[in-house]
Amino acid sequence: MSLKEDIQKLKQEKNAIILAHYYVEGDVQDVADFVGDSFALAKKAKETDAQIIVFAGVRFMGESAKILNPDKKVLMPDMNADCPMAHMAVVSNIRKMRKEVDDLAVVCYVNSTAELKTLSDVCVTSSNAVKIVKNLPHKNIYFIPDQHLASFVKEQVPEKNVILNDGYCITHHRMSKEDVLKAKEKYPKALVLVHPECKKEVVELADYAGSTAGILQYATKSEHTEFIIGTEMGVLYELKRQNPNKKFHIMSDKLVCVNMKKVTLDKLYDVLLHEKNEIVLDEEVMVKAKKSMDAMLEMAK
Ligand code: 13P
Ligand code: SF4
Repeated sequence: MSLKEDIQKLKQEKNAIILAHYYVEGDVQDVADFVGDSFALAKKAKETDAQIIVFAGVRFMGESAKILNPDKKVLMPDMNADCPMAHMAVVSNIRKMRKEVDDLAVVCYVNSTAELKTLSDVCVTSSNAVKIVKNLPHKNIYFIPDQHLASFVKEQVPEKNVILNDGYCITHHRMSKEDVLKAKEKYPKALVLVHPECKKEVVELADYAGSTAGILQYATKSEHTEFIIGTEMGVLYELKRQNPNKKFHIMSDKLVCVNMKKVTLDKLYDVLLHEKNEIVLDEEVMVKAKKSMDAMLEMAK
């Protein structure tokens, strides 16, 4: 039996489900029960009946699944697959902001540690941040940890005072205006689709900016047949699978998330077999963090 078949068999025996983000390698996406963006994955994690969730992604995703399902076992193929941006907000700054600014909501990008979620009013993902910020009753929004998604939201919701933090995604932050212009010169007929974790100078040159699921939907529905993709290159796998007759070019070879690439089929098989690398969170942290996750699920409806 192949490794992929072994994994499928183990999944059935153990009543387990594999959830994968678009950024993991294609062969890992192949064995997943569901592949999606951060928001779709959080919703799936909440709905599943499976007893074990194996999260083919980075740590904050596994933590979010655990927060939404405290009674389930959530396993990570690699415990070191961690998103650096998840840690890029300072607790004392959040507390200070709450003391000093009236009529304030702390909005936390789901790409964050469980601790940061406990200090926030509501979580968001790149696919619902604009809608949620727009509908919050507060005038002032402290958006953590990503400065670029925050600045994208600020632009889309000018009636709010969005206060930026200084975090960023180490993968998308590498893209510059020059990278877009170079790619456009090479593929002049292509539309440019980017993730809002990219810098403002990149987003400004794009034809569309949205979450990974948004990019997929845009490219699939579009009558256009050629695209430059400004997000992590793992998404090309699903883009090509859904659109075999369209052309996709990655904006730059630098668009690789080393942490997502730590998830491999071998590790997946091993954690499923031995039920190891379980996400364990403090009870109180889970209860508090769940409030901001639930608030997101409610407001995104
Ligand atoms: P989305 O899945 O919301 O597009 O976020 C991208 C990302 O960076 C996940 O780590
Ligand atoms: Fe974090 Fe960026 Fe990697 Fe997403 S792509 S996991 S935000 S480093």
